[in-house]
Order: sequence, then structure tokens, then C-alpha cells
Amino acid sequence: MMSDRPWWKTGVIYQIAVPSFADSNGDGWGDLRGIIDRLDYLQGSADALGIDAIWLSPINATPFADFGYDVSDYHAVDPRFGTMRDLEDLLAACHERGIRVMMDLVLNHTSVEHPWFSESRSSRDNPRRDWYVWRDGTAPHRPPNGWLAVVEGSAWKYDRATGQYYYHAFLPFQPDLNWRNPEVRHEMLDIARFWLEKGVDGFRLDLMNFLYEDEHLRDNPRRRFAIRPYLAQKHVHDASQPESLEAAKDLRRVADGFPGRALMGEVFTDRPEDCVAYLGDGTDRLHLSFYLDFIRRGWSAVAFRTSVQWLEDHLPECGWPCYYLDNHDLARSHTRLGVGGNAEARARVAAAMLLTLRGTPIIYYGQELGMPQSRVPRRLMRDPVGKRFWPLGVGRDGARTPMQWSGERHAGFSEAEPWLPADRSFVERNVEAESEDSASLLNWYRKLLRLRKERLSLREGSYSAIENTSGDVFAYIREHEGESTAVLLNFAARQAAVRLPEGVAEWHPLLSTHGERPGLTGPECLLASQEALILEAR
Ligand code: GLC
Repeated sequence: MMSDRPWWKTGVIYQIAVPSFADSNGDGWGDLRGIIDRLDYLQGSADALGIDAIWLSPINATPFADFGYDVSDYHAVDPRFGTMRDLEDLLAACHERGIRVMMDLVLNHTSVEHPWFSESRSSRDNPRRDWYVWRDGTAPHRPPNGWLAVVEGSAWKYDRATGQYYYHAFLPFQPDLNWRNPEVRHEMLDIARFWLEKGVDGFRLDLMNFLYEDEHLRDNPRRRFAIRPYLAQKHVHDASQPESLEAAKDLRRVADGFPGRALMGEVFTDRPEDCVAYLGDGTDRLHLSFYLDFIRRGWSAVAFRTSVQWLEDHLPECGWPCYYLDNHDLARSHTRLGVGGNAEARARVAAAMLLTLRGTPIIYYGQELGMPQSRVPRRLMRDPVGKRFWPLGVGRDGARTPMQWSGERHAGFSEAEPWLPADRSFVERNVEAESEDSASLLNWYRKLLRLRKERLSLREGSYSAIENTSGDVFAYIREHEGESTAVLLNFAARQAAVRLPEGVAEWHPLLSTHGERPGLTGPECLLASQEALILEAR
């Protein structure tokens, strides 16, 4: 089942929140050694999940005010997570098993604690002044313009030392770097080169479309209706500037200097066109970019079918989709998409969709166990967004709790009190228990991943929707060199009929959420309530 396509097209990426995956030294923080100890779970053992790459949440030196997305030294590994030696060992251990390693690179902003920023804010004529975006206010107590930070409030923070404002697209302790300064651009590309030379296989690029802002600081046009002020602006001047697309090209040139590397961008936007734009012609910008439209869809077959079709219709010819349902910023899909008694069944249908669509799927650690969105008590919260907006429940800690390895104390994640408490569900929902239960969600993921490995059509094949289904069903055919696979997903809690394409002698069931099924000799197929069924054309 070998293929000559690159790993980032055929493989499955597993996102690891490093602080929460496995603690090897008993300090309550997940670390790089912990990941090494757990590689058997991911790849290379008889019952491994069988993923192809891991994406590590930020591991650079950080005050950890925003989960490491606040870097204070780009060339260092944060001591919470280990040492440079640990990273080298992790790279070697992963590569030995054929696992690629992607690092999270935060190029848009640094921490306020980065020495560059200390220098920059120290005086108006400091050589690093222009490394960040400083401007005068328009009047006393009036910021330079009306741009808003993604989280809340003005995106400008007044700094008394020099009487100017600095720009921060995200939180005030994350000042934006000034990418218009050639020294900054050069330095950031150099940082990418540094890690590629170390042997990392690519990057997840944080806020890729935020690197540049409009040179003239033009205000954004307004929208009439929005649920919060940030969304009441159309972000045409503070995000998604043409220069950021050029930066994607520059980064691609750097990556292309190293064989087999890949760039995957977080394109944070409500315009799906932006996601596609960052792929360029499919060969000259990023390899993959996040398609936010997909995760914004509620539990509806029509919604997902529409979202997928949009991307299929708009991708450049050499472009490749990338799908995910969970990450460190989202409420976990088991809770978000599941309602009461339906959560488990939906999680199975969602997994089948994620792992059989045309594109590269990303699994977020614990998703395969059905880890729910955890309720982290206020006094234990870490996420600044969650703390600021308590009790609105918008915080991200609930999706970042320790990986649930076993039913032991702290879910087998650590011997010490973890940095965030393990979710209570760990007692039943953990790797050990689910491994022993052939009907568990974890084993469903394993089956799907195995099937994906066995079938080129699922990894590389074309996608075409099966149109004549009821609104409850999302169904499609994946096809590659005569191998044809049908995927039928019933989103509803009632039976649904599907009419498969004609001219097939037998549709042979490969996998179903509902166990064994006889083959189908005609085109009519009746799906059970919330059934995911995968068939082979014979
Ligand atoms: C990205 C990250 C998010 C972080 C933000 C600021 O959206 O995914 O976790 O808080 O950027 O870096």
C-alpha cells in the first residue's frame, strides 16, 4: 500500500498539547520525555493508533501566560517541557518509528517578556524600537485607530515609559512583531531555518494571516449585526493582508530548502477564501491550511456536506484539504457536537467522517477516547480568556486537561498534582480501559485508522458526494485507480435510506458502527440510526 505522495497528504496528524500529554518527571507538567515514553501508543506497536505525524503545542521558552503562545526565547526549549537534548531524542525516537514531528511556531507576536520587547519598549530610539508596532495616539487617551484585539478591547496598549501605544492582535502581553521591518522578517525566517536544521519536519504556523496589518492603519469597515464588538468589524485592514501571503511564500522557500518538510497554517478568518489563498497554487505557499468553516458547523449532515463541497470546489488543483474537529482552542467535539445520550454515537460518526474525507485529518489528543469538555473550577483555571470571561464558559482549559491514560490517580498522567486537573471521566474513559473494550471509541478509531492505511482510495482518492440522500445523511465515494469506497454517515437518530451509485455488482461492507452486515447486491441501503458504514465496490 505504498504511495509516492508526501506524508502530509497521506498521513494522519495527531496534535499533542505538550503540558497535558504525559509527565515523565513527576512535576505535574507534561514533557518531551513523557511523549517518548508513550510513543508505543501512537505508532510502532501491535495496537498503536497508527498516526503518521505529531504536532506539538509550543515548546519554546515562555512565561506560559497563554499556553506557550507567548514566546520569550525562540531558540530554547522551555524547561517545563525538557531540554534541547530531550527534543533531539524525541525527534530521533519518532523518526525511527516513521513519525514526523511538527512544531508550533508563533511568528506574529512574542511575549512581553521577550528581551526584544524589553529593548523595544525601553526608548523611542532603541535599535529594536521598530521591531514592534508603535504609534502615537490620536489624542490623549485615544489609541491610534479603532482596531480591536481578538479577545477584547482595543488592540493598542499605551506604554507609559515612552508615551506611545503598541499593537497586539491578541492579548496585551502578546505584542505584535513588526513584519514590515526587514530585520524582523529575516530573524523569523532564520528561526524557522534553525528548527528545520534540528530536524523538525514542519510547523504549525500560529495566526498566519495576522503577520501584517495595513500600513496606513485604516479602520475596518463595520458590520451591522454581531454578537460581540470584534465580530462587528470586517477584518480587512488588520488581518489577511497581501503581505502575509508573501510571507507564506518566503516561509515555503525556506521549507523547500529541506526535503520532506511541511507548513500548516492557522488562517484565522471567517472568510473561507482566505484559507484557500494561503495555499497559493498548491505548490508555492503553505502545504496545508486550517479550514475554520468546517469546525464552525453544527451537527448536521447537510452542513458538513456543504462545507466540504465548498472546499472541494475552491481548492487550487494541487491544493489539499486539511480537516479537524478538535484543537486546544475549541470546546471538545464530544461535548460540542454531542447532545446527552447521543454524544458517543455522534463521536463515532464524526470520527468516520474525519478519517475518510479527502484530505489530511488532525486528531487532537484524547479525542479518540471521547474526552469531554472538562469543567475546570475557577480557582484552577489557567487560560487568561477563561479567567477574564468567567463565568461565561468560553475558556479553553476544558479542552486542555491531562490525557487519560488509566483509571489511576490523575488519570495516569502524572504522579503529582497536574497543572490542570484531570477530567472526572478518566475513571472509565482512559486508554487502558478502552483498549480492553472491543466496542470502545478508541478501538473504533483504531479500526478506522487501519482501514485508511489499507485503502489507497481513502488516503488519496477523489471525492464525490452521493447527492440523492435524505438530509440526514452525508455520503460520498472515494475513488483511486479502480478502487472505490463508499462512506455513508447517518447523522440522525432514525433510520435513513441511501441510494448508492448503479453499476456495482456488490457493495461489500468493510466497517460499520453497527457491527457485521451482509453485502448489498442492489443500490438501496438502509442505515441504522447514527450508523457510519463504509463499503467497498466489488
Ligand atoms: C492561536 C492559538 C491560540 C492562541 C492565539 C494567540 O489562535 O491557537 O491558542 O491563544 O493564537 O497566539
